Amino acid sequence: MTKKRIVSGMRPTGRMHLGHLHGALLNWKMLQKDYECFYFIADWHALTSDYAKPEIIGNSSYGIVMDWISVGIDPEVATIFVQSSIKEHAELHLIFSMITPLAWLERNPTYKEQLKEITQKDIHTYGFLGYPVLQAADILMYMANGVPVGEDQAPHVELTREIARRFNFLYGPTFPEPDVLLVKETSKLLGIDNRKMSKSYDNAIFLTDTDEVIRSKVSQMITDPQRMRKSDPGNPDVCNVYSFHEIYTDPADVAEIDAACRSASVGCVECKRRMAANLIKGLGPVREKRMELEADRETIRNIVERGNEKARLIASETMRRVREAVKI
Ligand code: TRP
Repeated sequence: MTKKRIVSGMRPTGRMHLGHLHGALLNWKMLQKDYECFYFIADWHALTSDYAKPEIIGNSSYGIVMDWISVGIDPEVATIFVQSSIKEHAELHLIFSMITPLAWLERNPTYKEQLKEITQKDIHTYGFLGYPVLQAADILMYMANGVPVGEDQAPHVELTREIARRFNFLYGPTFPEPDVLLVKETSKLLGIDNRKMSKSYDNAIFLTDTDEVIRSKVSQMITDPQRMRKSDPGNPDVCNVYSFHEIYTDPADVAEIDAACRSASVGCVECKRRMAANLIKGLGPVREKRMELEADRETIRNIVERGNEKARLIASETMRRVREAVKI
């Protein structure tokens, strides 16, 4: 039986953090068993918001591939490639841009949210508005059946389905309508300021942070806001530090911490200290693997080159069919 195909990408805007790990990467890793996986570096997408400082994009791409492999993405199983190496994505994006109504893009919830949240960069651009059109090109290029993404990206996959439908209606059946494979987050890990973990909010814990940096960041984390004094009972259900315990701390200890927090017999400082120690231990194997890869850049380059070639083969066939359908 042939496996269904999935496509997903990530923007190379620096190093991978725990939000990426628990929000996406562990899921990507699991999906390798059941799907034919295409995972790529969405460097053109990164350019839509970081066009004024593009260095970080090129500089972080290989590092991100190393992060992926060190958490268990297997280049022998999944195809790892770089979006900008497959020029067909740009051509398909262009064609999709002709048939995508402006209203679909203007009402896109991620667009509206980012315009509000991102204030240090000017993202009132044509390219940024068209972000999901490029994403539709990424996905449909590989005739994907599914797209594993977090909830925040679901509107983009919905838009992809609409673009596929419109293309098929205008030019004849060409693309499948891919499903969202909603990534069930292991748990909702927020950034140290309790907002969504994101490099642009400066609140992330990175896979490659040193022990010291991890301890310092954990010590700054926001806990139960109702718990003002150590003698106040806390509520783990609303505490971000507790969410980290649920992942990185031994289950028996988690139950004890839960009770100790509720009865105010452990304070937030001590609770954070224990969590930081467990987090550091949990990330140990990932960092070890990462260091091995770091010493062998040639291998990473080869992995990406092989992935690019595989992606390119499919992309050129898709574009042949698209040009035929559009008759251009
Ligand atoms: N927009 C996605 C994100 O920020 C990244 C992305 C680009 C993507 N192209 C994609 C994800 C195609 C899935 C499929 O997370």
